[in-house]
Amino acid sequence: MPRQVTCWLAENFIHEFFTNNEYKLVRSRIRVLFVDGNYQIKMQNYTDFLAETLIDPVTLQNRVRELGAEISRDYADTDGNLLLICILRGGVPFLVDLMRHITVPHALDFMAISSYGAGARESTGNVRVTMDLMTNIHDKHVLLVEDIIDSGHTIASVLELLETRQPASLKVCALLDKAERREAVVPIHYCGFVIPNKFVFGYGLDLDEYYRNLPFIGVVDLEKYKP
Ligand code: IMP
Ligand code: MG
Repeated sequence: MPRQVTCWLAENFIHEFFTNNEYKLVRSRIRVLFVDGNYQIKMQNYTDFLAETLIDPVTLQNRVRELGAEISRDYADTDGNLLLICILRGGVPFLVDLMRHITVPHALDFMAISSYGAGARESTGNVRVTMDLMTNIHDKHVLLVEDIIDSGHTIASVLELLETRQPASLKVCALLDKAERREAVVPIHYCGFVIPNKFVFGYGLDLDEYYRNLPFIGVVDLEKYKP
């Protein structure tokens, strides 16, 4: 029997026994299993669920260049003591583009956190560090580079943690600010764009871990997106 047919039958079979969310999880596992056996994952094309392009690539890159220039001016006297910290994974494309416009010497570090206690598209105040920094940030000028600030809980917890390590300064650079959704008070020293309360993807922001590579920020039509 062709693999696609086997996979399709398996997917439909498991659907009988699981709730919708469990089904989606098990279905994705089955697809991964079949990758090794040459079963091709058929990704949904983003154009199927793109409601609108919120920020096009040229507008994005122009703003990133401006932010880089502003940061370069503000940190001109830090004498190599600037550390950019990117929160994995969403901030990566932004960090990579931004750092190429920062003309003052700086180092990079990464941390990963996961938030728990809420649904997949919301966060709570409960964040856990899953990968900590390699760098001792004591007396360093730290700039946190984030993709998006939504409720603000994630960045608030990260700031609280990093403050205890006594950096020389601690600031936030966020590409997107979903200001309407804010629940925690957080300072955003450098902000790319304030956006409306819509679920967005692309340029680092994912839909179930995919589509981070797209060069623009799009709004997802959740009715049409089929994970
Ligand atoms: P917060 O703790 O509510 O501020 O959530 C911040 C994190 O939620 C971000 O770093 C993103 O990973 C994720 N997030 C929030 N809004 C969106 C969105 O519209 N698209 C994709 N990810 C989002
Ligand atoms: Mg993020």
